[in-house]
Amino acid sequence: MNFELNDEQIMFRKMVRDFAENEVAPSAATRDEEERFDMEIFYQMGELGICGIPWDEEYGGAGADYIFYAIAVEELSRVCASTGVTLSAHTSLCSWPIYRFGTHEQKMKYLKPLAEGIQLGAFGITEPSAGSDAGGTKCTAKKDGNSYILNGTKIFITNAFYADTYIVIARTGPKELGSKGISAFIVEKDTPGFSFGKKEKKMGIKSSATYELVFEDCRIPAENLLGKEGEGFKIGMMILDGGRTGIAAQALGIAQGAYEYALDYARQRVQFGKPISELQSVRFKLADMATQIEAARLLVYQAAYMESNDIPYGKASAMAKVFAGDTAMAVTTEAVQILGGYGYTREYPVERMMRDAKITQIYEGTNEIQRVVIANSILR
Ligand code: CAA
Repeated sequence: MNFELNDEQIMFRKMVRDFAENEVAPSAATRDEEERFDMEIFYQMGELGICGIPWDEEYGGAGADYIFYAIAVEELSRVCASTGVTLSAHTSLCSWPIYRFGTHEQKMKYLKPLAEGIQLGAFGITEPSAGSDAGGTKCTAKKDGNSYILNGTKIFITNAFYADTYIVIARTGPKELGSKGISAFIVEKDTPGFSFGKKEKKMGIKSSATYELVFEDCRIPAENLLGKEGEGFKIGMMILDGGRTGIAAQALGIAQGAYEYALDYARQRVQFGKPISELQSVRFKLADMATQIEAARLLVYQAAYMESNDIPYGKASAMAKVFAGDTAMAVTTEAVQILGGYGYTREYPVERMMRDAKITQIYEGTNEIQRVVIANSILR
């Protein structure tokens, strides 16, 4: 067993860290304050070559594995969790299903520009009455000649409004067919009948875009079906298996960023005549934070390794997400505590990190749903 990154991975981490610190971190607080998504940062990520890390070069990818991808999301999230989730949703939720289930034509038309970072991707599964119960989807896609006609609403869609390409899960069969009556589609932004509803005002990840998708007699070509009719629920579940590793990497990055900030602060902040890092109460907090982060990192990289090596990874990604999400919440809360009153103000980044951490326990399946997935796997 080898627990160390190789030279290529170390260089890659440095490259993404430099980019994150120079191009992403300086505007993170302002974008959060203004709740502003910045498409320019995404285009810059495209130039850096990180918008299609795991895909073949033929399709605009970097031909690297999921460990590189996890490192990229972690490093971006270390300074700005909103930028981390932008890349994660783009890669795992939109590009991956096209890479995995798309035809060569679909890959050339949609995956290539996504991987090159010329176009942004999003994924629509959640609906007002189908959150944790993803199979309860009400959005319909009715076959009509050489088209499907989409009707319904999707909510809480990351990257929406700015994204050019959307993977949409919709019901093609009668309710009685259950999860087998659901299909997946590729939908282009400017399709007539496809519009955007309200922009969500969120507690955290405020500079990521979150909108409703509205489909009103939206006609899409039948060739935009992804995979086979009736396979959409399984495709959706498989998308989330991989996506959860991305969110786990995001949570890991948030925790790492907050930990480093609190560590530096504890060394500088003098109370009772000495740096607070010399107080046992603070030292123990830092020790716990460092331990939790190390454990989370092992789980995240393990899940990424398994996906890269075709080892079934659904349980591993759920475990990584549960643990890393809880770690992000615990570590950021302690970071605020170490900074005390200063930590509670917007002058310091740890309050943003704490707000950002919360969503990692909720989206891409709540941590309760992750436990359902883990329990199903171990009790099968
Ligand atoms: N891979 C392949 N197939 C799978 C699968 C997987 N991971 N999970 C389930 N399936 C298959 C099952 O084998 C079953 O197939 P058969 O009927 O042929 O046996 C079928 O799908 C139905 O499975 P279940 O009966 O287990 O399905 P369920 O209705 O009980 O739901 C669930 C299971 C795990 C609770 C699922 O609904 C779930 O994951 N819910 C959470 C949804 C979620 O994560 N939403 C996130 C939204 S996206 C997001 O948040 C992105 C963002 O903002 C950034």
